[in-house]
Amino acid sequence: MKSRIIVTGGLGFIGSHTVVALHEAGFEPIIIDNLSNSRLSALDGIENLIGFRPQFAQIDVNDAFALKQLFEEVKPQAVIHFAAFKAVGESVEKPLMYYRNNVGGLITLLEMMKETGIKDVVFSSSCTVYGEPSEIPVKESTETKPAESPYGATKQMGEVILKDNSSWCNTQCLRYFNPIGAHPSAEIGELPLGVPNNLIPYLTQTVAGIRKSLTVFGSDYDTPDGTCIRDYIHVVDLAEAHVSAVKRLLDQSYADSFEVFNIGTGNGSTVLEVIQGFEKATGLPVPHTIGDRRAGDVVKVWAETTKVENVLGWKAKRNLETMLKDAWNWQKKLSERADN
Ligand code: UFG
Repeated sequence: MKSRIIVTGGLGFIGSHTVVALHEAGFEPIIIDNLSNSRLSALDGIENLIGFRPQFAQIDVNDAFALKQLFEEVKPQAVIHFAAFKAVGESVEKPLMYYRNNVGGLITLLEMMKETGIKDVVFSSSCTVYGEPSEIPVKESTETKPAESPYGATKQMGEVILKDNSSWCNTQCLRYFNPIGAHPSAEIGELPLGVPNNLIPYLTQTVAGIRKSLTVFGSDYDTPDGTCIRDYIHVVDLAEAHVSAVKRLLDQSYADSFEVFNIGTGNGSTVLEVIQGFEKATGLPVPHTIGDRRAGDVVKVWAETTKVENVLGWKAKRNLETMLKDAWNWQKKLSERADN
């Protein structure tokens, strides 16, 4: 029998790609999603890719009763926990909503896991825990900094909660850098609701004519071309990292019951390099202007990947050109759809 893996937030951007990667690796993914920031069309995309509709339950991770019922029915071997809010600016405006959902949801999930005897979890963390990093590339052992936003604080708190429960719960804590791109088939991808905050959806919507021009937030930073540097990672690579983490949990090959890995490529790109890379990869111009700095932006951050490569045995395979081409193919598909 295939190992069953519960994927909370399994219809979201990273979740949907992970569901597909789990299926391809021989697991049976079971999706939980409350559809607050995702759409059922992601389930259609997954079905088109894997050939059948995986089990899906429209459940909120704050709903202890529904979670418990599902866990007792499904008896999963592990949980991958994506379900959380993720917009930095929104978290500043609505901090309680973020703490309730991201921290409260994790606590409810863990309580129900404990009650039903599930001991293994993969947690979505973020490179935001490093703040403006004290060393680059950033190692897992690099000091974390006080969070710059309630969103960042919820990720730090999540890590602490999981660490404090490591007597009964085994955690693979994955600190993502900047996930972009989409499945090469363009069946699944990112569905930003409203005006996007992140660089790539804003860029692709601009090229598609939905937005007038992309604003580059600041060009006077201490970087080679003055724009901020990030470690962009293809969402399919990121999904595959979750498969490696689940295997490590189920094989019990972890050295510690709470382990942290950086999930990045190890390469940094400036905003202007991303724009130029997109133009080269697609042959299309990106209308853009240089604007003011955005409050709270880290100047430069990219991952040291030695630990994740040597210990987890995972390495990103897809380059920036592939990420940008796949992001564009997804945008083109979205532009054709009625529900975009
Ligand atoms: N940027 C622009 N113009 C835009 C949008 C972004 O120039 O319209 C720039 C930003 O200033 C930054 C880079 O593009 O330099 C990337 O910005 P994103 O908003 O795409 O991503 P961030 O690095 O700000 O945020 C990401 C995740 C967060 C996470 C954070 C941690 O989206 O969830 O990394 O650093 F908290």
